Amino acid sequence: MSKIPVIIDCDTGIDDAMALVVACASDNLDIRAVTTVGGNVSLENTTRNTLNVLHLLGFSHVPVAKGADKPLQRPLMKASRVHGVSGLRGYEFAENYTDNLVDLPAWDLMRQVLMSSEEKVTIIALAPVTNLAILLQKYPEVKGRIDKIAFMGTSYHCGNPTVLSTFNVMVDPEAFQVLLDSGVDVYACPLDTTKTAYVTPDEARTFHSITGPAAEMVNGLFGGYCQVDTKTEVFDEHEEGERNAKQAARMKSKYEMHDPATVALVTNPELFTWNKYFCQVECKGELTLGYTIIDKEDYYAKDEDERNLYFAESIDREGFLRVFRASLEKFSR
Ligand code: RIB
Ligand code: CA
Repeated sequence: MSKIPVIIDCDTGIDDAMALVVACASDNLDIRAVTTVGGNVSLENTTRNTLNVLHLLGFSHVPVAKGADKPLQRPLMKASRVHGVSGLRGYEFAENYTDNLVDLPAWDLMRQVLMSSEEKVTIIALAPVTNLAILLQKYPEVKGRIDKIAFMGTSYHCGNPTVLSTFNVMVDPEAFQVLLDSGVDVYACPLDTTKTAYVTPDEARTFHSITGPAAEMVNGLFGGYCQVDTKTEVFDEHEEGERNAKQAARMKSKYEMHDPATVALVTNPELFTWNKYFCQVECKGELTLGYTIIDKEDYYAKDEDERNLYFAESIDREGFLRVFRASLEKFSR
């Protein structure tokens, strides 16, 4: 089977790093470029983390370009309490590697890859979609070159970091509206589904027997994931709200693999079930900012071609765990 050409847009924090492990381990992907955006942590930190993870995995041949340091119209809201101020709490790199950082903005590198590819390219979007919105607004000619956007985000009746909204939409809801209006196929891996793609602490401990750089990094990151009650870090004012003790305990009882599951949406689509719905996003709400209103009951009676979101209804968690473990083992010595 020929490989799927992909661009990965990420805000490398802990689950993005694990997603890069799955992507780099997969025989099904041809990673043409990786782009970074401000999200979980600052653009500087997401970029540094992305370059270092790709180098660790032996993928420093893949060009990396920095994108937006903040959303289209809003200040950046980060998630450092979940990921650490560095973005990769629990693992430190001995040095920083920057050789494959190209001197282009993310949207220009994306356009270059899209316009030079012989076949359509899939964009795996693991972060607030500011870069993609700028790409589509600045270069509408690329739309026909995109096979689909596989996006980590949206939700039907759950939320993170609020009751209803998901981080990658809530940080830049206007950018996600651009994607919904673009006519490009958006395949969402919603929080309702990614939160069922979890690793328990006991399951995480079974990875300790796997050698190699990917497992060493991931084992460290599981240790740092969701240590939201850390008192050793200083957070600035541009952060999502603090988790209460109950939320913190829940986040540590099941490591939700949001971004790795979204990569699996492309590498292993057989793990998922799908429906297509009409979706709108709240861009003005005080309590509901970033909420994706997904018309599962067909209230608006939209035709098939008016439905603008493919929605992953379920994931086979055991199958996903097999893919994740195999990804770690791919890099074992
Ligand atoms: O809500 C989880 C998503 O927001 C993940 O992509 C995580 O990395 C953060 O970007
Ligand atoms: Ca992410």
